[in-house]
Amino acid sequence: MEDIVEILKQKTVGKTLTVCGWVRTKRETKNAIFIELNDGTCMSNLQCVFNTSDAAQLEAALTGAAVEITGTLVESPAQGQPVELHATSCKVLGPAPADSYPLQKKAHSLEFLRSIAHLRARTNTFGAVARVRNAMAYAVHTFFQDRGFKYIHTPIITASDCEGAGEMFQVTTLDLDRIAKSGQPVDYSKDFFGKPAYLTVSGQLNVETYCLALKKVYTFGPTFRAENSNTTRHLAEFWMIEPEIAFATLKDDMELAEDFIKYLLRWALEECAEDLAFFDKRIQPGLIDMLTSVYNSKFAHISYTDAVKELEKNKDGFEFKPYWGCDLQTEHERYLTEKVINGPVIVTDYPKELKAFYMKLNDDNKTVSAMDVLVPRIGEIIGGSEREYRYDVLLGRIRELGLDEQAYSWYLDLRRFGSAPHAGFGLGFERLMRYVTGMENIRDVIPFPRAVKQADF
Ligand code: 4AD
Ligand code: MG
Repeated sequence: MEDIVEILKQKTVGKTLTVCGWVRTKRETKNAIFIELNDGTCMSNLQCVFNTSDAAQLEAALTGAAVEITGTLVESPAQGQPVELHATSCKVLGPAPADSYPLQKKAHSLEFLRSIAHLRARTNTFGAVARVRNAMAYAVHTFFQDRGFKYIHTPIITASDCEGAGEMFQVTTLDLDRIAKSGQPVDYSKDFFGKPAYLTVSGQLNVETYCLALKKVYTFGPTFRAENSNTTRHLAEFWMIEPEIAFATLKDDMELAEDFIKYLLRWALEECAEDLAFFDKRIQPGLIDMLTSVYNSKFAHISYTDAVKELEKNKDGFEFKPYWGCDLQTEHERYLTEKVINGPVIVTDYPKELKAFYMKLNDDNKTVSAMDVLVPRIGEIIGGSEREYRYDVLLGRIRELGLDEQAYSWYLDLRRFGSAPHAGFGLGFERLMRYVTGMENIRDVIPFPRAVKQADF
């Protein structure tokens, strides 16, 4: 049995083949019956042409049915495909009744498809998203492995809040219903881990330990944030890639981030050409040109302070008035990257109040050695920093922010023993996917989105 992607590539005219897949459409003319067969190995269908006398065996070969078709590959007389299958037999493996199968041949809204996430992979759009997502995951590993980075598996369950934003999902085996009814306070010593535990918001703190042992490392795994934001950019469960490099500064970190993004874009353009052509045509016109131009450009750099000056020139254009010290909103980020720079831009040296405790304090004592990579249409795609590697300064920050010193004692140990300058960043995998595919809603670039009030399937 052969994959359609290979059949269409090799075009071995004259060969007898057996192909399995799902019927996209069946159409009858006076002289023949056509089945458009898709097996998900590529965007294109294999056109299977039957004699009208085969009508009986094709009765159940309706849109959505799983079938096994045998025939001979021939050059296609019609335009639209180089080869087609002159089919002699069709076995219906799994029918899809027309009156109940929801994916009939017609345009479906993305909202509707979200409600049938268990079937949407069988559409052109979601098949393409899944293939590009797979290619991007492979590219992530290839990029780092080719550069000698070691892949570290950081824990999903953790007791420490990396970002300090308090947006963690709690993990417990306590019977909360019963405790609530009893009126007693929760005794976490009786909980599974003997203390409160959470789903991780980032693998960074753990991966830093391996960075200060193996020099160049990365994580790539699911992360969880209980942010109450119902947007097209936020998920409660998303995947993040977090490299961490030792004996490195923010400059090295920014170079790595730029190389990484360009590598991923180039990979997508080269390895996912058919799917990107689809996105360019159907989802975001100009996508391929945009990705190509980014790939060929140099990322701009701007300090937070200068960025705010730029934003203040356009004060009245924003819902949230920008000022030094304000957290950059999406509208600000997009203005910077789309209007001021017109391309990717790296914003550096944010006020320390806006960023996590672990970022290296600059000499001005006001800003930290942080960087966010902003790209048009998306805004923030990467967040990273140089890490505070000076024990006293880090301890000072932990105390200043009222964090639990004890909980971070192991992290502080990294600064007590063999500390070294190091830096890293996190790339949101679904933000990357939105960027590369042009898909608008982040819920459409992950197979089963988890967001506020949404955990179906
Ligand atoms: O900027 P963030 O919060 O940085 C960190 O988590 C650091 N520990 C990374 C590091 O330095 N190792 O998140 C990093 C990226 C963001 O730039 C964004 O792309 C993505 O993760 N992200 C989200 N993606 C989808 N849904 C959410 N709720 C996201 N929150 C962050
Ligand atoms: Mg961030």
